[in-house]
Amino acid sequence: MSEASITRISGPVLRAVTDDVFHINEAVFVGDKKLLGEVIRVERNAIVAQAYEDTSGLRPGDTVLGNGMPLSVKLGPALLGNIFDGLLRPLTLDLGDYVQPGMQAPPPQGFEFTPGLKVGDTAGAGSVLGSATGTGGLSQSVLIPPNISGVVIDISPQGHYDDEQTICTVRGGDGTQHQLAMSHHWPIRDPRPVAQRLPTSRPLFTGQRILDSIFPLACGGRAAMPGGFGTGKTVLQETLSKWCDADIIVYVGCGERGNEMAGVLHDLPALEDPRTGRPLMERTLIIANTSNMPVAAREASIYTAVTVAEYFRDQGLRVSLMADSTSRWAEALREVSGRLGEIPGEGGYPAYLSSRLADFYERAAHVRTLGGEPGSLSIIGAVSPPSADFSEPVTTHTKRYVRVFWALDSTRAQARFYPAIHPLLSYSGDIDDLLDYWRENNHPHWLEQRRRFLTLLEQQMRLERMARIVGKDALPPRQQHVLLCAELINDGFLRQSAYSEIDRYCSPERQAAMMQLLTRFIELSEQAIEQRVDFELIGNLPILRRLRRMSEEIGEHDMDKFETLRTELEQVFSTLAKQEPANAG
Ligand SMILES: Nc1ncnc2c1ncn2[C@@H]1O[C@H](COP(=O)(O)OP(=O)(O)O)[C@@H](O)[C@H]1O
Ligand SMILES: [Mg+2]
Repeated sequence: MSEASITRISGPVLRAVTDDVFHINEAVFVGDKKLLGEVIRVERNAIVAQAYEDTSGLRPGDTVLGNGMPLSVKLGPALLGNIFDGLLRPLTLDLGDYVQPGMQAPPPQGFEFTPGLKVGDTAGAGSVLGSATGTGGLSQSVLIPPNISGVVIDISPQGHYDDEQTICTVRGGDGTQHQLAMSHHWPIRDPRPVAQRLPTSRPLFTGQRILDSIFPLACGGRAAMPGGFGTGKTVLQETLSKWCDADIIVYVGCGERGNEMAGVLHDLPALEDPRTGRPLMERTLIIANTSNMPVAAREASIYTAVTVAEYFRDQGLRVSLMADSTSRWAEALREVSGRLGEIPGEGGYPAYLSSRLADFYERAAHVRTLGGEPGSLSIIGAVSPPSADFSEPVTTHTKRYVRVFWALDSTRAQARFYPAIHPLLSYSGDIDDLLDYWRENNHPHWLEQRRRFLTLLEQQMRLERMARIVGKDALPPRQQHVLLCAELINDGFLRQSAYSEIDRYCSPERQAAMMQLLTRFIELSEQAIEQRVDFELIGNLPILRRLRRMSEEIGEHDMDKFETLRTELEQVFSTLAKQEPANAG
């Protein structure tokens, strides 16, 4: 083991002298308490390392021991349903606590192993070796590590083993024997290899109308969610963790306050997946690195999270990674860079901020795994720009690497209009990839309807300025009609409370039904205006109130009520048309 002796300590950054060989990104153990750290710079006879734990109490002369391996995490069946710190060490639910210094990797845990290969079979790198079933009864694939392949020369029979025990021996092409367990280690800064990257083709449904129907994200896509303080980033990330239709959710709370994370931790165990009826926590893994934990560990937590997410993707699953917030991660990067004495760039961030963001988002993809199955990893990063200024470096660089942009707007949030996603500042670059999906799944007019909604919202913005000057009633009927429709789209469709029992989740079918109904209202009322029906009559129709409130009044289980409402809508307008001659006179 290589050894170095500390000469300088500056917060999490340590300098140590040595005659031994250390490598960049090598894991190190620091001082008597064996604090975990990582080499970030190698010089002649000296290294610079960052410690992932509180360094108070360390002194010059204390030892830094090299591990000989890059900083890695243990990937295996023991991950799901649990909460970890930024280096994947288990945490208890009590978030008031700091991570205990020197805490080591999780202890081995028992699982029922069922072999999927037999002696003599080819063991392909990254392919499935068997399955592991835990106490909850959930079965997960056991993978051969992506850097090992060969022929199976021994495999354990079905039975109970701990996740670090050898259950299979593989002989590689060069004759080396590899002992494999249900878990394996992987370096957090190395993307896990895949057979092929595939184009994205289906949406990641989130149950949120403004996302799925207006700014959809593809499975394997990347989205950013920038917003000022209190605009609803954390609530939205949690909502997505609960309701999006991924198989696995990796939630990384990065540098946010501990009490904010407590929300997810308390809600999740009690909730059921609306599609499978199973507890949502079963498919979830939480990485908590709150603001009271050491800053360097926050930098690592993002890589830990994405590595874990890739591991599940490699099992042929659809994985969704939520990061709240990437700004806190960038701040950690800035702090460490400052302590290293690097030349600061824009906003004090290091010049490599942009490439680090690119590396992170680049790991989102729809792929064919080494085992040959389709899998995907979608990344959704929250960004918290200071003073909600979207021109600051983290937001602008993030924008370069994401295809979907959900801009949370302070004005909307102040008006308690949630989700506060601004329909005119947000965009989705995944739409073209998803057209076939909608066409094949009973919503052939989606694109037209979406476009119509957005056009109305855009017209509304311009007209409202004018309405403020001349008064709404002075506008011609056609323009008053635009305002009416846009309000209806906002209140009846885009608005959706995360706390409403009936509306916090909206299935794609219900979204389509609502969209169709609103579109029909727009068409019918437009026709009526053209036929010179008095705008007052339309604006005061009692059915408007019901359209505005349909998301709260018509739940997932009474979809036929949309049909009833539609019939009523047609009747209302045909009556209006008949009244017309009287009004015209
Ligand atoms: N989708 C939503 N539905 C209902 N209320 C919301 C929603 N999003 C945010 N809120 C309200 O706004 C508050 C602040 O949201 P939060 O997610 O903590 O903001 P941020 O993380 O952006 O600082 C929440 O406590 C909640 O009351
Ligand atoms: Mg927050």
